[in-house]
Amino acid sequence: MTAAPPKAPPPSEVSPRSHPSGDNRFKMLEATMKRHQYQADALIEVLHTAQELFGFLDMDLLLHVAHSLKVPPSRVFGVATFYHFFSLKPQGEHTCVICMGTACYVKGAGNLVAAIERLCGIKAGETTSDGKVSLITARCLGACGIAPAVVLDGQVAGYQTPETLTETVKGWLS
Ligand code: FES
Repeated sequence: MTAAPPKAPPPSEVSPRSHPSGDNRFKMLEATMKRHQYQADALIEVLHTAQELFGFLDMDLLLHVAHSLKVPPSRVFGVATFYHFFSLKPQGEHTCVICMGTACYVKGAGNLVAAIERLCGIKAGETTSDGKVSLITARCLGACGIAPAVVLDGQVAGYQTPETLTETVKGWLS
């Protein structure tokens, strides 16, 4: 008797929507799109999450969203450029996104925001006058298990304290 050839994984186990970069933030974005069942009418919500995770919406990201939600790229670009709260350009040289979702909030995310606002002399949503640091707050990043979570220049970091976060951002300012 000959052994059966190895089976290809069933299509359901292969996500056509995962991003080839392997960047963890795409997994988080994926979770948001999945929660909305990849409905095209969740576009604004999905772009919000994308901006919170990445700091701004670049072309690759917009195309990824268009492809995932099966919405024409022209419509995605149209929405992203129409609303003033979407940014298509990087803001500061460094970006600190602090999650203010419930799980992170109860674990002290508010103290993280206060510490960075004090350190940088800016409010959440602003960039330092030298263009070095942008501070952004987000709703749930999908990383509640490591709350309070932040995204520092694209890297997700958990279990932050005002001290650890201040240390990182101080390094950016020097
Ligand atoms: S509430 Fe912060 S990652 Fe979910």
